[in-house]
Amino acid sequence: MIFDRFYQRFSKDIGIDLGTANTLVYVKGKGIAINEPSVVAVNQRTKQILAIGSEARRMVGRTPPHIVATRPLVDGVISDFEITESMLRYFIDKVHVQTYAFLRRPRVVIGIPSGVTEVEKRAVVDAALNAGASEAYLVEEPMAAAIGSRLNVQDASGCMIVDIGGGTAEIAVISLGGIVISRSIRIAGDEMNENIIQYARDNFNLLLGIRTAEDVKMKVGSAYPLEEPLYAQMRGRDLVSGLPKEVTISDAQVREALMHSLRVIVNSIKNVIEEIPPELISDIMHKGIVLAGGGALLRGLDKLVHEATKMPVHIAEDPLTCVVRGTGIIVEDLETLREVLVPTEFGRILR
Ligand SMILES: Nc1ncnc2c1ncn2[C@@H]1O[C@H](COP(=O)(O)OP(=O)(O)OP(=O)(O)O)[C@@H](O)[C@H]1O
Ligand SMILES: [Mg+2]
Repeated sequence: MIFDRFYQRFSKDIGIDLGTANTLVYVKGKGIAINEPSVVAVNQRTKQILAIGSEARRMVGRTPPHIVATRPLVDGVISDFEITESMLRYFIDKVHVQTYAFLRRPRVVIGIPSGVTEVEKRAVVDAALNAGASEAYLVEEPMAAAIGSRLNVQDASGCMIVDIGGGTAEIAVISLGGIVISRSIRIAGDEMNENIIQYARDNFNLLLGIRTAEDVKMKVGSAYPLEEPLYAQMRGRDLVSGLPKEVTISDAQVREALMHSLRVIVNSIKNVIEEIPPELISDIMHKGIVLAGGGALLRGLDKLVHEATKMPVHIAEDPLTCVVRGTGIIVEDLETLREVLVPTEFGRILR
């Protein structure tokens, strides 16, 4: 008993948002300790890992053929198990060293997309255990995002969250500590980058790199007409001459490109609203929809969603960190918030 309390006090339990685009780690009692892109650079010849996180991201699209900078998660789920595990181990070790947590290996709470299969859940838990966690718990990302946005998820009045990340957009209605309805679609920030690449190809005969497309999205991307026009320069390769070319693109053109993804996201939000049980609908109409994830930073997305749904729409504070802050709130008070964790067929994992 005394030992239990002793361990509680010194434990450096951690919360992890293992995202397609970014991985964030929250350390109990300390806050967000890691915020890096989910990228790993691997030497294909030796299978050796050369860099992880920001350092690996700098290599994207610039590596010699035998070195690949890969993202171990695709569409929100683990696509390369070993590399995911190495990435997790690297991040867990990093905070472990920083916090002198020599006493005990950390307990870990990890956000996963809603609606992943048992096999996928198992893969995340195994990756965390193999990477050095003593126990691993899962929470659905929209639940974590709602908790991180300070919504009272244990209340009976219900709330609605839309988390638009890199790989997935997740829409959920939460009440009494559980997810009442959810929809996870594999169209989010990455697909928006692809929309811009496609647009440049079709309209300017210009081949863009992914990072350039993402820069354009952040600089001038929008979901709703802007008051002042914005323009961005895009550099790529002319598909006809094969030579470098620079083209100016306007916010209206980028919006036209992004609409391919935005329409799908907005329709999914509408579909979820149609399924909200009548008892909850008036609460949610009153409280509105909360937007989280990096996609929430797209200019005018709140207006577009409001126009389509007629509901009040709020952007979460610091949308990129909502999920990890939610996992952090859970690790700070695991006993009270246990009910929000994902029940898995294999139960609580101990090792
Ligand atoms: N200002 C911005 N405007 C538009 N999109 C943005 C902006 N800032 C970040 N993004 C996009 O947000 C996405 C990353 O968001 P986030 O970190 O929430 O995703 P993730 O949690 O890693 O992914 P997922 O939840 O799908 O696994 C990227 O696609 C990025 O381009
Ligand atoms: Mg996410």
